[in-house]
Amino acid sequence: MAINKKIEEALNEQINAEMYSAYLYLSMGSWFEEKSLTGFAHWFRCQYLEENMHAMKMYNYVNERGGRVVLKPIEGPETEWKTYLDVFQQVAEHEAHVTSLINNLVALSREANDFASESFLMWYVDEQVEEEATADELVSKLKLIGDNPNALLMMDTELGARGASPNVIPIHLNEPVA
Ligand code: FEO
Repeated sequence: MAINKKIEEALNEQINAEMYSAYLYLSMGSWFEEKSLTGFAHWFRCQYLEENMHAMKMYNYVNERGGRVVLKPIEGPETEWKTYLDVFQQVAEHEAHVTSLINNLVALSREANDFASESFLMWYVDEQVEEEATADELVSKLKLIGDNPNALLMMDTELGARGASPNVIPIHLNEPVA
């Protein structure tokens, strides 16, 4: 059964929101890169790829349901932040916003008795629990760190060790891909 038009449009909006998330995280990574905090920059490169994956998973789903993906312009993300904490507070707020978008999509699928879309979206519901928990944890750590540069560098090392998908482009191009 071909997908309901209203849900197709809403999924297209969500593909755009996921692409925007990717763009926002790449912008945050670039901000950290300039500060030579390469662990933070690496973490955001991983986030960028994860958001692209979220968009592509939905892109595939729309196609599989006989819908049509229509790409819309991606809004320009912010490029400057005052503090490290501000960056992660924005990540946490953004993820909470994405959760509300996903919840709205689930509600719309229920309204339309589109059980396939509801089931598909459950993956995103679970993913958002993890995304929000990670962002909140990083906000708490940065609050603890305060102005302590040693602790900040330790966090940089920790974030730099994040297991990368094979598609992450390394910070230094001559490094082997993880
Ligand atoms: Fe695609 Fe970070 O949620």
